[in-house]
Formats: sequence, C-alpha cells, structure tokens
Amino acid sequence: MEILLDTANIEAIRKYEAILPLAGVTTNPSIVKKEGKVDFFSHMNTIREIIGQERMLHVQVVAEDKAGMLKDAETILDQIDREVYLKIPASEEGLKAIKALKKAGLNVTATAIYTKMQAYLAIAAGADYIAPYFNRMENLNIDATKAVAAMANEIEYSNSKTKIVAASFKNVGQVTTALEQGAQAVTVAPDVIAQALAMPSIDQAVDDFTKDWESVFGEGSTIASLQG
Ligand code: E4P
Repeated sequence: MEILLDTANIEAIRKYEAILPLAGVTTNPSIVKKEGKVDFFSHMNTIREIIGQERMLHVQVVAEDKAGMLKDAETILDQIDREVYLKIPASEEGLKAIKALKKAGLNVTATAIYTKMQAYLAIAAGADYIAPYFNRMENLNIDATKAVAAMANEIEYSNSKTKIVAASFKNVGQVTTALEQGAQAVTVAPDVIAQALAMPSIDQAVDDFTKDWESVFGEGSTIASLQG
C-alpha cells in the first residue's frame, strides 16, 4: 500500500514525513485555503523540498474548462517540476484534459470521483491515479465500500496500470475499508492519522513494558544501556 498525506501544512508534513513510510502529498484548492494566502509556488516547492523528488506531489488545477486546466497544468509543471501529479477533476472538461495530458506523457490523478462510471472513464483515459471521495460518497448515501471494490475490479479486469488513491476520509475505519477493498493508495489528513495512533492502550502497553524492564534492570535502563 501507499500512504500519502492530504494536507498542505508544512509543519504536519515535516512531522509525518518522519513517522510514516510516506509515498507523497496531495493538495487541492480547499486544502491550500486552510494555509491562508500563501505564496503558492514557493509553498509547493517547500513541500517538494521536504518530501524529495522520489515521493509524489499531487497538485490540483483550478480552472474548470479544458483549455484553462491545461494552462494551469503547464504553470504547475513550470513552477514546481515535471514530476508533479496533475490532479484533474473527472468532469466532462476534465476528462478531455486528462486525455491531452496523458498523450503528452504527464502524470495525472483523476479526482473528485463520486461514481463508478467516473472512475471507469478515468481508468480508460489512462489516469495514473483515480481519487474516489470516500466520505463525500457516504454523505450522499453512495456505497463507497462497494464502489472502491468495483473500481479495483475494473483495474484488474482491464489490466490497467491505474491505481486507486482513495481520498476524503473522516475516520480511520474508512481508510482501512478502502484499503481492504483494493485501493492501492490512500491519502489521509493529519488529524485522521493522529486518530489512528492516539489510542490510550498503545501508550499504556509501551509504559507497562518500560516499567517491567526497569523493575528488573533499573530505572532509566534500556537494552543499549546494558552495554555500559
Ligand atoms: C484529495 O485528493 C481530495 O481532494 C480530498 O481528500 C478531499 O477531501 P474532503 O472531502 O475532506 O474535502
């Protein structure tokens, strides 16, 4: 599996880059808005410096028509680098843009996916990743679990290279469900990752191990300290 961070927050990216086997970072205009009116390109380049060239950076276009999306895409590639995954909504105009960008050999993530049909069209258009919006689907009474499973099946049946980067999670259960249904990747906001690791039982177990060890080998001792 691949785990990406769904944030543009520099502090969170620095923190979780050290903790997670991080495959990359995803952003969208609403995620960028949370950081205030930043210098957009400099901000994205800072994220690139933190995660390095070997991890993925997914950046979304803002324009809503094909021509505007292609201009946004070109600007993103010029101002950041040509390895960026261009996030394009799987709308009518977006699908046109995806075809053009793939023809040019660029990295593309089809986003804003609420339905199986959108996903299938994006897979057929050759998107590298498709981003089904798990929580938003559930909010609309769409069965996100079944939808992700169907997308994974379609990828397998069509022998496609497309991967699912499931997105829009509001809790840990949604993340694990998406992975269990065949999503190859998930992009998760820092607060949901924090939820996953913030179990009092985990801290309690670690404390108990330390106490048991120290009760025999002395306070403050560790395995390394046995060597003196
Ligand atoms: C990421 O690629 C998506 O744009 C993001 O996860 C959407 O999340 P939201 O539903 O919380 O806005």
